[in-house]
Amino acid sequence: MGKKGRRLRFRSWQQTFLWGGGLVGLLVLLFLVARFLPPTSHRDDQAPRFASSDQEVEEFFKDYWRRPIPLQGSPPTNYTEKEASLRPEACGSCHPRQYADWKESLHSRAMGPGPWGQIIDLTQTSPDEASLCMICHAPLSEQSALLAKTTERNETAYEKNAHFDSELQLQGITCTACHVRQHRRFGPPKGEESSTPKYPAGTPDHAGVQRTPYFEKAEFCKGCHQFEPENSLLVNGKPLQDTFREWQNSIWGKGEASCQECHMPQRRHLWKGIHDREWVKGGVRIEAQIQTESSRPGDALELTLEVVNAAAGHKFPTYTTPKIFVRAALLDGSGKTLPGTEQEKIIGWDARFEDGKWKEYFDTRIPPGGQLQETFRWKLPPEVKKIRAWVEVHPDHFYHVHFYPAFLKNQELSSQARKLIEKALQDSGRSAYILFDKILLLPES
Ligand code: HEC
Ligand code: HEC
Ligand code: HEC
Ligand code: HEC
Ligand code: HEC
Repeated sequence: MGKKGRRLRFRSWQQTFLWGGGLVGLLVLLFLVARFLPPTSHRDDQAPRFASSDQEVEEFFKDYWRRPIPLQGSPPTNYTEKEASLRPEACGSCHPRQYADWKESLHSRAMGPGPWGQIIDLTQTSPDEASLCMICHAPLSEQSALLAKTTERNETAYEKNAHFDSELQLQGITCTACHVRQHRRFGPPKGEESSTPKYPAGTPDHAGVQRTPYFEKAEFCKGCHQFEPENSLLVNGKPLQDTFREWQNSIWGKGEASCQECHMPQRRHLWKGIHDREWVKGGVRIEAQIQTESSRPGDALELTLEVVNAAAGHKFPTYTTPKIFVRAALLDGSGKTLPGTEQEKIIGWDARFEDGKWKEYFDTRIPPGGQLQETFRWKLPPEVKKIRAWVEVHPDHFYHVHFYPAFLKNQELSSQARKLIEKALQDSGRSAYILFDKILLLPES
């Protein structure tokens, strides 16, 4: 199928948008190695080159996604104040649609109370550990108060950053992080005529845009959404963040759809994911069926629930943090649950850091195209009239139940960090929703 046809197909099943959240507690990072350590030498400040062949894709991204992204330097003297600004609001004054989307997205909240509450104390006590988080959550050099520098004795020292912008720091993954290097704009090839942004005549245009097809590649997202298996902690053979490889090994990665084709339909900047009910409904198909013909008291009753990963381009879910509760219970004539009849099966990857090591409890995530088929069985009590089958999604389960409560036990937390994590604990308890809910009538006996 041609590229155009594919895009159209995705538009039709993914029209709506919002929130997400994820993985990686502090502990995880203690295991991430050299790749994420601050650079040991300052590279010269040239903007990334364009690659001309496919083999150079990797080189291009290595250069484009240096960690942290080097200081932008002085803006060209002919830039207006708005063109020279790195702040998302400045971009938004000429690109209002992308700004409105981004503001709603999780990328703009990547320095929210959960991450920032863990990072804030480290910025004082251990800047190298703070930078291990910032390279993904706030990747511009201008977002860090201290910058790494190599001393004469070839050691890493941290020095005050004269270009630090404390407001930009808390804006997370900004327009600049993805689009600007040395004050030059980078972007995708021109889009379809009908959706291409229009600018009033005479609008200053920051000396144009370097257009590159690499903005349309899944590799663009890889640096932050994939831990290198060679260089990071493996739990039962799997990196804690493996989204790119899951995609690459699926039909989607074999030319069907890039991350952008699904997560940025019509180039929108919302990046919806597991936190958005409508979004998840577009990717997952669920069916519940009673398998039993008779419903005489004492008979065996069987209900099957099928959850199909129809259109998530990676495992459902891809991270260790969400849990999906697939549940069923027997109801009486008035719709009340009969005590003791509720059953559940959990979809997710339960991996936890306990007693100094990582332990996998289970991994029931559904691979792309795969399905979970769960059969619930009961012996029929006499008062049963109906069965309720439902599926609940808890996007931040790991944080809410395991990580934040444990983190708050640390007596050495500053009061600022404690306040932030208390807020994160609250927020992470509010993100759950019901994805599917169905009442089935028993067959007449
Ligand atoms: C600079 C690092 C970085 C880059 C580049 C990046 N992301 Fe993200 N992404 C993150 C972080 C960090 C979060 C989590 C933000 C939060 O919740 O605090 C996130 C969140 C998301 C979510 C929301 C997940 C959810 O839980 O609902 C989606 C979807 C997503 N990213 C897709 C993409 C796609 C597609 C690309 C490439 C076009 C991309 N990201 C590029 C770091 C990045
Ligand atoms: C390689 C990139 C990367 C690094 C390094 C990284 N993260 Fe993340 N982080 C992500 C991505 C991607 C997500 C979103 C995952 C999802 O949507 O489920 C995320 C999600 C989170 C979340 C949940 C989202 C929220 O806003 O509550 C927290 C908390 C978090 N990270 C904290 C940290 C901390 C603390 C560190 C450093 C110790 C760190 N991360 C290092 C990529 C990274
Ligand atoms: C004063 C107005 C103005 C500001 C501020 C501005 N831009 Fe632009 N931008 C433009 C104009 C005009 C174009 C069209 C240029 C062209 O097509 O050659 C453009 C084009 C782009 C494109 C290519 C879009 C396309 O049509 O394909 C990207 C990406 C972009 N800008 C990113 C940014 C980012 C990121 C910022 C903030 C750091 C920013 N711009 C700030 C006016 C502005
Ligand atoms: C996580 C990375 C990321 C962030 C953050 C981000 N963009 Fe983009 N942007 C992209 C990618 C990738 C594309 C190309 C998508 C595609 O081709 O499907 C793009 C496309 C664009 C385009 C071209 C749109 C079109 O229809 O042709 C503009 C303009 C733009 N971005 C501006 C912005 C502005 C302004 C912000 C901040 C408010 C921003 N971007 C934030 C990754 C990002
Ligand atoms: C075929 C469409 C499709 C493709 C391709 C795709 N995704 Fe997703 N993605 C989804 C759907 C649907 C969901 C919601 C269900 C889920 O969470 O798995 C999702 C969820 C997510 C989440 C939320 C976290 C979680 O635990 O599930 C992140 C982060 C994400 N995608 C990133 C990516 C990245 C990065 C790529 C490319 C390597 C990508 N996606 C490719 C459809 C897609």
